[in-house]
Amino acid sequence: MSLSTAHVMPRIESLKQLHRGAPLVLPSMLLCDFGNLQREVEAVIAAGVKGLHLDVMDGHFVPNLTYGPMIVSACRAATDLPIDAHLMISEPSRYVDQFAQAGADIMTIHVEAVDDPRPVLAQIRRTGAAAGLAFNPPTPVSAVTPFIDDCDLLMVMSVMPGFGGQQFDPRAIEKLRQLKSLVGDRVVLEVDGGISNETIAGCAEAGADLFVVGSAIFRCPDYTESVKKLSELARRA
Ligand code: DX5
Ligand code: ZN
Repeated sequence: MSLSTAHVMPRIESLKQLHRGAPLVLPSMLLCDFGNLQREVEAVIAAGVKGLHLDVMDGHFVPNLTYGPMIVSACRAATDLPIDAHLMISEPSRYVDQFAQAGADIMTIHVEAVDDPRPVLAQIRRTGAAAGLAFNPPTPVSAVTPFIDDCDLLMVMSVMPGFGGQQFDPRAIEKLRQLKSLVGDRVVLEVDGGISNETIAGCAEAGADLFVVGSAIFRCPDYTESVKKLSELARRA
């Protein structure tokens, strides 16, 4: 599939919109009921979220397998909200154009998945989408700092990628603090993994703009209550 110019839209605007609204909670749809995807999307929208986070896993870069561009398309059909595609995959350059066509506004690749993230980040930007770079808990901040000017978003992983419902790794706090002092408002800072009522304020205080939340929304009975509480805690920090 090639990307025709007809599909190239200034999707970077979606990230700017999220940045202006920060701090914001983005639901990780990993733990949603996929048998009722449209209903789940509608439910998180009704709960007040301003974007969706979609976890793409290939069973190779991470030991779990989820979904590809088709689910991104299905979410795109269900909402105009920004879609943040977290690509936990090897060789992301092979799939960037497909995810762009499917409707991703932000595509985030892992620094551990590629030899040099620059060409892939440039490829993402050429689609019109915002380019994100993620790094895992054992990876130091110095692994991403050379690429600050090549990306629009930096994602601090606070769990090892692969599964929802894991415990927050507190090393993320210091990483956020370091990155915030380096990038200011130039690059959006996102944190992903183990975000809950107990951990969100520390991340907000350290400088995170976007908070990916899976289990603390989808394993709670009332999405609206959860999103409201988490958002309040982030805003008050
Ligand atoms: C982990 C994913 C996360 C995760 C979030 O590999 O990138 O988005 O599912 O889920 P919780 O909030 O349960 O850690
Ligand atoms: Zn994620």
